[in-house]
Amino acid sequence: MLPDPCTYIIFGATGNLARLKLLPGFYNLEIDNKLPPECSILAVGRRAWDQSHWISEVRSILEQKTQLDETVFERFCQRLFYHQGDMDNPECYQQLAERLSNNPQFSKNIAFYLAISPENFGPVIESLSHVNLFNQAYGWRRVVIEKPFGYDLESAQVLQKRIHRYLDESQIFRIDHYLGKGMVQNVLVFRFANVMFEPLWNRNYIDHIQITHAEQLGIGSRGDYYDSAGAMRDMVQSHLLQLLTLVTMEPPVSMDAESLRDEKVKVLKSIRPIPKSAVHAHAFRGQYSKGTIKGETVNGYLDEADIAADSSTETYAALKLFIDNWRWRGVPFYLHTGKRMAASQSTISICFRHPPLQLFHGTGVSCMTPNWILMGIQPDESIRLEMTIKEAGLEMRTRTTSLDASFRLPNQRAVDAYEDLLLDVMKGDHSLFLRFDEVEYAWRIIDPILQHWATERDYIATYPAGSWGPAESRRLFEKEGQFWRTSMLPECEI
Ligand code: BG6
Repeated sequence: MLPDPCTYIIFGATGNLARLKLLPGFYNLEIDNKLPPECSILAVGRRAWDQSHWISEVRSILEQKTQLDETVFERFCQRLFYHQGDMDNPECYQQLAERLSNNPQFSKNIAFYLAISPENFGPVIESLSHVNLFNQAYGWRRVVIEKPFGYDLESAQVLQKRIHRYLDESQIFRIDHYLGKGMVQNVLVFRFANVMFEPLWNRNYIDHIQITHAEQLGIGSRGDYYDSAGAMRDMVQSHLLQLLTLVTMEPPVSMDAESLRDEKVKVLKSIRPIPKSAVHAHAFRGQYSKGTIKGETVNGYLDEADIAADSSTETYAALKLFIDNWRWRGVPFYLHTGKRMAASQSTISICFRHPPLQLFHGTGVSCMTPNWILMGIQPDESIRLEMTIKEAGLEMRTRTTSLDASFRLPNQRAVDAYEDLLLDVMKGDHSLFLRFDEVEYAWRIIDPILQHWATERDYIATYPAGSWGPAESRRLFEKEGQFWRTSMLPECEI
């Protein structure tokens, strides 16, 4: 079923997000015939471009990502429009409202996509409201807000208050693009469509859970934003905590947006607060120094563009959390993320407890390795169950083997997270978007750490680009045998 007709208005249409994700996302939806015929995409930009210039710009953006199908592209171009205007200038909004009014080219259902710097979210929403563009008398009006929603708990609450004057919750779509990833949705399917793991999914059987997001890329041209954010705000507060909620939440009453988000919020609320005095025991930060990625020497963080020479912003963050509820009490959750790491990969690794007796002791099997379930989010999109089996032969020797459930068939195209989310906005489905209380509770968890780090600006551990982060982060582990699981392969095959 096609979603409602809609006009998508993109603020920040010439920025990175629109180039890398939104325009390619829309184009892929066009290929798959997922866009309703009455869907148009109006880009708002400062540059004095006309329609044909914009189309050639979009062509070059798409050509950098894919080989264009000319027939599809021609069809796609019918949807594309450009609106020149400076979002700091009230005239931009006045002209926009005039252009949209009674123009059959544009559906009255409008989604405003704010792919802009966070400090502009409030002002742009206010300006749109001043020209009455949120009036839903003739069609729905929705606003998609990129992360980060706020800079800390207080600023998030201020932003929320500010935008709530003009929009109600049903109009707000706070995006966390991780929720649009197929494998992230597969975590819920794996948990709630299979009965055999549920009895094991708790403190009685699980030793600990790790969530890893590693990137080989550095901060690129985002120095300005990144230096004031850091890895904890950029990745942990949003994407990693969201992954944590999906792995640990209780089965929702139904899959509707409110039931799903109610359960996620319960997890966030149950996370044991980290007092400032315990920050060192629960969190670790690091910054990349010069190193080698794919055989090439790369700059350290302090030599990147727009970074202060004495910056102590973290490009690596590790965190240990406990969820104080019936299911998870006592199980440590280790989250870590970093830029310029040894590999690009996102994985959820679930480590089970050792069997209660080392029965095969003295038979050539020295110590049994625990079972792991590895959920590869990217680039491997698969769920892998590791177990110990006997090796063929007369001796009692064991090895680790795995059962793999691949997500995608070899000939299936990879669907980008944004494609799903762009469609959901048109359908008015909030399931994969954040409710404000989720954002609020996530900040409550992170805030004490950020506040403490802000007082310790003199020193930050470093790690060479191309490594797995600072070795000292190991100090977060509760037990001797715990270690960062950095590969989807069994230890013996690494
Ligand atoms: C973004 C962060 O939200 O997510 C980036 O701002 C990060 O710093 C990106 O690189 C990671 O997303 P993905 O989908 O490439 O894993």
